[in-house]
Amino acid sequence: MNDFTKSYEANVDQNYSELGKEKEKDPDTWGNVEYGGEILNIYTNPRVIHDLFTIIAETCVPDKDDMFIGADLGGAEGTVANVVQGQLRENGYSNAHVINYELLEKNLALMESKFPELLGVQADLKDLPLNGSTIDFAILRYVLPYLDKEGQKQVIRNAYSALKERGRLVILQDGGFKKEDGELYNQFFAESSSAQSGISLDQVSHNRQFISAEEICEIAEEAGFEVEQANDLSPIFKGCLSPEAYASRFNMTEQQMHSLQAVYKRWKESGRLEFSDNPNNPVNIRVKRPTIYLVLRKLSPRDAMNNPS
Ligand SMILES: C[S@@+](CC[C@H](N)C(=O)[O-])C[C@H]1O[C@@H](n2cnc3c(N)ncnc32)[C@H](O)[C@@H]1O
Repeated sequence: MNDFTKSYEANVDQNYSELGKEKEKDPDTWGNVEYGGEILNIYTNPRVIHDLFTIIAETCVPDKDDMFIGADLGGAEGTVANVVQGQLRENGYSNAHVINYELLEKNLALMESKFPELLGVQADLKDLPLNGSTIDFAILRYVLPYLDKEGQKQVIRNAYSALKERGRLVILQDGGFKKEDGELYNQFFAESSSAQSGISLDQVSHNRQFISAEEICEIAEEAGFEVEQANDLSPIFKGCLSPEAYASRFNMTEQQMHSLQAVYKRWKESGRLEFSDNPNNPVNIRVKRPTIYLVLRKLSPRDAMNNPS
């Protein structure tokens, strides 16, 4: 974990498992999205987690009595692992376990107190302590941007090795679908994050890489995955980022809030990203939060022969 991430996370006022709870219906709350006509939190809402992860997990183990091993890679305090494991068990997968592989001890300690049923392993995903082909299903939710390009490749390759044949990896994060949109989002994130945190622009840009869906597909196919789904979910999970959304998650001084608002105004005027106005609050400016979603399947040698790319 690099110094940037440590200082960025040290500023955080709310854990992932708490997101959206206090201000469930407020679009300017971190991670809140409009989905199916309702405002829900993309990090914590069980329906969202079901539709994005549990549904895919269930396709990985056809017999409900079989042992099911899932891995939440970089699962923080285990929010998604807890919901997916619970939903699988409710749906009859009585031997389902979703293990959280997380770098930070403080997150694993929080997991132990919040979700004592869950298993956690302290691990660096770049050096995953898993013997080959032992996992049925893996999740990478909002983790790849924390790694540099080489680290991202390494983590996708490691997930590939850890999965059983025909196992699936599901990736969800913000970022552009196309490479050029990804670059633009990276630039905007670096400027807004630097304003919000006081960390230099240089440091932020070196430490957050919002890899695009197109680039993930390239790396995944190189690693041996078949890309079953690569979707821009932005029209389905309509979410935004705004200075107020930052303030709902991070401790910010008044000065940092002003700098952040100035970045938003400048980008809105430049017309380079899609903004929407909030009629209830003229000071508030919202930018569309792009969400990408990928389902990758580890090919068996026979599938690979029938499916040469
Ligand atoms: C934005 S959080 C997402 C947490 C969780 N996946 C979720 O969606 O609720 C990123 C997580 O990735 C973890 N992480 C970052 N780099 C890691 C690495 N190299 N190995 C393991 N975990 C890592 C961080 O500690 C943090 O918990």
